[in-house]
Amino acid sequence: MPAADHVSVKSNGTKELSSPQTKKELLRFIICGSVDDGKSTLLGRLLCDSGTVPEDQFEEAGTASRVHGTQGDDVDLALLVDGLQAEREQGITIDVAWRHFETNRRRFIAIDTPGHEQYTRNMVVGATAADLALILVDVRKGILTQTRRHSHIASLMGIRHVILAVNKMDLVGHNAAMFQTISDDYKSFASELKFQDVAAVPISALTGENVCSVCGGIPWYDGPTVLELLETTESHRDNAACGFRLPVQWINRPNPDFRGFSGTVASGSIKRGMPVVVCPSGHTSCVRRIVGPSSDLENAVAGQSVTLVLGDEIDVSRGDMIAAAGSPPNTTDHFAAHLIWLDTQPMLPERQYLARFASACAIARISDLTHRIDVNSLNQLAAKTLEMNEIGYCKISLDRRVPFDPYIENRQTGSFVLIDRFTNATVGAGLIGFALRRGGNVIWQEMKVDKSLRAAAIGQKPCVIWLTGLSGAGKSTIADLLEQKLHALGMHTYLLDGDNLRHGLNRDLGFTDPDRVENIRRVAEVAKLMIDAGLIVIVSFISPFRSERQFARSLLEDGEFLEIFIDAPLSVCEERDPKGLYAKARSGKLLNFTGIDSSYERPECPELHIDTTKLPADEAADAIVRTLKTLR
Ligand code: ADX
Repeated sequence: MPAADHVSVKSNGTKELSSPQTKKELLRFIICGSVDDGKSTLLGRLLCDSGTVPEDQFEEAGTASRVHGTQGDDVDLALLVDGLQAEREQGITIDVAWRHFETNRRRFIAIDTPGHEQYTRNMVVGATAADLALILVDVRKGILTQTRRHSHIASLMGIRHVILAVNKMDLVGHNAAMFQTISDDYKSFASELKFQDVAAVPISALTGENVCSVCGGIPWYDGPTVLELLETTESHRDNAACGFRLPVQWINRPNPDFRGFSGTVASGSIKRGMPVVVCPSGHTSCVRRIVGPSSDLENAVAGQSVTLVLGDEIDVSRGDMIAAAGSPPNTTDHFAAHLIWLDTQPMLPERQYLARFASACAIARISDLTHRIDVNSLNQLAAKTLEMNEIGYCKISLDRRVPFDPYIENRQTGSFVLIDRFTNATVGAGLIGFALRRGGNVIWQEMKVDKSLRAAAIGQKPCVIWLTGLSGAGKSTIADLLEQKLHALGMHTYLLDGDNLRHGLNRDLGFTDPDRVENIRRVAEVAKLMIDAGLIVIVSFISPFRSERQFARSLLEDGEFLEIFIDAPLSVCEERDPKGLYAKARSGKLLNFTGIDSSYERPECPELHIDTTKLPADEAADAIVRTLKTLR
């Protein structure tokens, strides 16, 4: 899924032993459990007994065992995988590690993530890439809240195969009844989830019993070992059921005679001559050539990077998806999705994020957070925002139509990541459910009398003069004077003031971050309507976040938006305290007050920066009028 490709995850795994050309099938599995359950020991055992651990690493683990280990003079297998110093010292696994190993039958990537709830996002990133979940429980403890959480997340992320490894059987005298109870409990719990199969195996990671081989200590169990199950479980990575999908990453045009579309096949397969459709345009053609790294190919399958040359000169752009003509993906600009929040800053509905899909990028807005999911119980909870590690179900609107498949049908083309437009951090990972109707049914209606006709009728060029700054910085006073001056010049104006709009249109909003985002979104939209009416609009709002000020700017044309930073230090605003609100905020009677316990993000390059400790309000208003004149 893109999440796994786009999200930067640290890898401290062992070296990949196989060359990429190896034809052996690959199975990715996530290993869930905690250090106490013996997770690292199990992983160490798999790496060791499959012959993957190089000699020097084994020796290194031996040395470390004597310092940090828990197994006396024996090599502590956990130390083979708990590679980071911090992990060793804390005895926990932090971050996501991708560990490669292989047997004669298959190649494997074991995705190792921490088990605690505060690392849910790490597990989610790992699970989206996995075909199978290896869930570990300690036979003495049985099914825990953590086991249920891991299973819920695995199910939600589309994993269909589970191995329940019941560990530490040696510590309970290989007690069959204890194993059976845990196996039955888990299977009954898992029957409510979307798993296709669950196999329970009694193991001892420490002695290696039933991990890679049968040591004979558990005679009553004659089922497969963990490794046998890993070697034989079906892998769904190619999403073949969905049909051929190639997200176009690059238009390859080395000379006027060659035009190819390059990318990695996300699912299915393609043959020379096959009819294809380009999405979202819907143009059809057929595959004339499939160009591989060194020569032309007859066909290509999921995972291969190729360049396609089509039979017709049709328009294809970077971000489009080339698909099998008979089973095209959906296209939409509005859909429902599960969203996993990865960032320390909470998700803000209505904020604009950048959404990156398998093929395309778009500006996205979470238009509705339907509910949050309790990962321990899967209960749906009411929520206004998502904090880091929380999973929610929401409706997302895009600024353009993009091709996609539902995540349950295709993990590659059914997922996306959200990126903060200012910090470039990956803040969320999403799994697409289905397209919502609005997409095609609300159509923009062109009117005969437009902005330019309206503006011409009153003889002015409309624009928004957006005053931002702390409460008490002087915005309202300057805005009032400015409007008087513009009015005296014969201009048609309107002043939108924060306090005033909160008496009517925005009466329902408070001062939490999500409410401020919505406050500014509405004002920006109103200002845009007024621009459309030909007016000069003065906006006087704290508007504390860059992202929303940028949104307001993005709604307008170049030169129509002037950001004016009305600046005064917090201490000065607090001293002025015209409405007594700073005093209230300091005494704890007013919460979320900007500058006190709610943030203000200073403009980075406003059209005009006014320091109101130096410039009186009247001169500040004159300076804005001058700026307005020079810009037109
Ligand atoms: S914004 O942050 O959402 O842009 P807006 O400009 O609409 O704020 O409203 C700010 C005005 O509301 C302030 O001038 C102040 O009079 C009043 N106010 C009341 N509570 C708060 C608060 N917690 N934080 C900031 N302003 C507040």
